[in-house]
Amino acid sequence: MARRLQGKVALITGGARGIGAAAARLFSQHGAKVVIADIRSDLGRSVSEQIQLESGYPVSYVQCDVVNDSDMQNAVDTAVSMHGKLDIMYNNAGIAGKKKVGILSVDPEVFRKVFDVNVYGSFLAAKHAVRVMVPQKGGTILLTGSAVTANYGMVPHVYTASKHAVVGLVKNLCVELGGFGIRVNCISPFAVATPLTEESMGLDEKAFEEMFSTMGNLKGVVLKSKDVAEVALNLVSDESRYLSGLNLLVDGGFCLKSA
Ligand SMILES: NC(=O)c1ccc[n+]([C@@H]2O[C@H](COP(=O)([O-])OP(=O)(O)OC[C@H]3O[C@@H](n4cnc5c(N)ncnc54)[C@H](O)[C@@H]3O)[C@@H](O)[C@H]2O)c1
Repeated sequence: MARRLQGKVALITGGARGIGAAAARLFSQHGAKVVIADIRSDLGRSVSEQIQLESGYPVSYVQCDVVNDSDMQNAVDTAVSMHGKLDIMYNNAGIAGKKKVGILSVDPEVFRKVFDVNVYGSFLAAKHAVRVMVPQKGGTILLTGSAVTANYGMVPHVYTASKHAVVGLVKNLCVELGGFGIRVNCISPFAVATPLTEESMGLDEKAFEEMFSTMGNLKGVVLKSKDVAEVALNLVSDESRYLSGLNLLVDGGFCLKSA
């Protein structure tokens, strides 16, 4: 197998489970030295050990709440002190908040919390990556949006608003950081059954996939975490070296159909 991230160092936030864990596994299979940053320590450690056993490449875990500046600083510094550099920052950590409600019933605390994790967390991840990538003269930053950046009314207001803010951040950062050889992109998946979707929608994997396969545009394929990880791999690898400022929908055309 061609190892497309051989020699690269990748930090993946929210890598203890779901899409982030799938990306950690795939990046590691492709030769990257992976650092998983998450708030779920037990899971993060066991997933890291498991992936390292499977791939033979180093995978480590660092405790990091993405809304905490010093945690994020420590996560980036840990990656650099272990492996000498940081090539890839994949900020995947994100939360959905509670079930969709009308605007009059929105809990302001939930609104702030979702914005904090999804937007401020993305900002801190980018900030600390840039701190080391500028002197390195290069690197790639991948932030996480959602198909809700091109589709409306299906999820809580704050989730849609926060993911739009992430896209805005990506585009602004792309312009600022191009001069330093740093690429910045956004990956925006359609619905994937993960612990997040199970918790936020109360549907098990089978029920969730049936519902969204029916709703989706591309038939005969069920979108899995691994599919999103494959697109992330494409975006962060050197084959995409001229790609920056993109919000890449991984939606099988769903948003075009529903627009
Ligand atoms: N699953 C989907 O259908 C879907 C669709 C579009 C976008 N997304 C986005 O993809 C990303 C991953 O989603 P997922 O479905 O794999 O979710 P998940 O809940 O299964 O995994 C998210 C991970 O992020 C971690 N995390 C949460 N808050 C954190 C924080 N403050 N600091 C550090 N880590 C934190 C969690 O512990 C968990 O390990 C999210 O940004 C989500 O918004 C998911």
